[in-house]
Amino acid sequence: SAPEPVYRIGFSQCNTDDAWRRAMLAGMEKELSFHPNVRFRMLDAHNNSDLQQRQVRELIRQRVDLLIISPNQSGPLTALAEAAYNQGIPVVILDRRTTSRLYTAYVGGNNQEVGRTAGHYAAQLLRRRGRVLQILGTPGSSPATDRDLGFRQALAAHPGVQLVAQVEGDWQPASVLRRLPAVLRAHPDTDLIFAHNDPMAQAAYQVARQQGLARRIRIIGVDGLSGPGNGLQLVEDGALKATLLYPTGGEEAIRTALRILRHEPYVKENVLNTMVIDSANVGTMRTQTEELATQRRDIQQQQRRLREQMRRYASQKMTVYLLLAS
Ligand code: FRU
Repeated sequence: SAPEPVYRIGFSQCNTDDAWRRAMLAGMEKELSFHPNVRFRMLDAHNNSDLQQRQVRELIRQRVDLLIISPNQSGPLTALAEAAYNQGIPVVILDRRTTSRLYTAYVGGNNQEVGRTAGHYAAQLLRRRGRVLQILGTPGSSPATDRDLGFRQALAAHPGVQLVAQVEGDWQPASVLRRLPAVLRAHPDTDLIFAHNDPMAQAAYQVARQQGLARRIRIIGVDGLSGPGNGLQLVEDGALKATLLYPTGGEEAIRTALRILRHEPYVKENVLNTMVIDSANVGTMRTQTEELATQRRDIQQQQRRLREQMRRYASQKMTVYLLLAS
């Protein structure tokens, strides 16, 4: 059969410095290892929407065959994602959304659902009475907006549970360590903290401990990654009461991209599921994700060996050919 054409995929990633983004990239690379005909170029916007705009413009200028974008904030990236789409470059939106429907496909979680699930779980933990504090992700980034919306929707169904304070975070633990202490001192009777991701939830735990409140305050995060220092371990150690699984979608994004590039049928909205991970199921979750990680490593090793053999085979064939020709 004819060899597959070379495809150039450009990926505009909002940041690469946390474990969740690294897990996303690992998933993408695993999937890409099956497609040596893909040239993959990732540009890291370092949590900066201006820089991300420039990088997306550059990828458009290079006329990549397909663009994957995980927008730092929705507003600043919407017009550019639309422009790429309107110029005929397929656009896959990953995890964080723009505010437009002009894209080829979306891969990621339902963040309103993440917020709602967290809210109902919180109310159940508190036996429907208590004071809650929320730590949000970057303003204007769609998971922060949607998790907040869903969380409030769920709490509205439980009048005994009050949202007493909010801390505007930026997905990063450092800002929680800076901003939470004063807010928590003003609300020492807080019963529960919902943080929009596990790194911020972990920082909240640190602050609660410093103020001698770690025993009373229950903390819920989002992401549920395996590996040292990540969500599953924080739940196992009891620092977090629970975390909401938020799959990275890295593998699905590459799979969807390839279907689009090959003009195969694909799904426009690829919504990945969430679930509560707490002490009841964290052990099972960890075993499963570790098994998956081992399988992923095995597959990549086999792929590498296979490619090595192909190379050797090709050069042997060349030698035989040269011998016969001489
Ligand atoms: C990683 C992250 C995750 C969060 C997601 C939301 O950069 O902050 O922790 O779930 O982005 O887009």
